[in-house]
Amino acid sequence: MQKREIRFEYDVCKSIDELNESDQSLLESAREVTKKAYAPYSEFLVGAVALLENGATVSGTNQENASYPVGICAERVLLASAAMIHTNVPIKTMAIAYHNLNGDSNFPVSPCGMCRQSIHEYEDRTNHPIRLILSGMTGEVMIIEKASLLLPMSFGSSELRSVK
Ligand code: THU
Repeated sequence: MQKREIRFEYDVCKSIDELNESDQSLLESAREVTKKAYAPYSEFLVGAVALLENGATVSGTNQENASYPVGICAERVLLASAAMIHTNVPIKTMAIAYHNLNGDSNFPVSPCGMCRQSIHEYEDRTNHPIRLILSGMTGEVMIIEKASLLLPMSFGSSELRSVK
């Protein structure tokens, strides 16, 4: 038997001010777009904005439903829009922010498991890593160079095709 280890590194900035201009503007937009979230049940407003390889930006917010499991996260709203409006165009960077109406919004949160799987598929289908910028409305910012780092030992299309 052997032990194996998976580890990854990511960057943390004290605030948005430490980011370059392009990343700052993306995160500002993600914070701003939280206003368009439809989250009357959780009151946890999530905003995501992506910069695509063609220079376009696409955004998404969480869209909840009275039948709770029907709700969809901001990241997957964004990915569905990007896939339709800019088909096959890779996403370079996605900024994700949240505004918790019932608590603090001053530290980064990372995408849920279902969104990690969806983002991973998007990276796979466009053959391009997606850089993540994660933050609340204020405070620290986490930068993760490839979203797939958040989903080690992931299941993907290559497993389906595998003949092992
Ligand atoms: N949510 C997102 O939009 N993205 C995530 O990555 C985590 C959670 C939404 C789902 C739900 O509408 C609310 O946040 C509380 O879970």
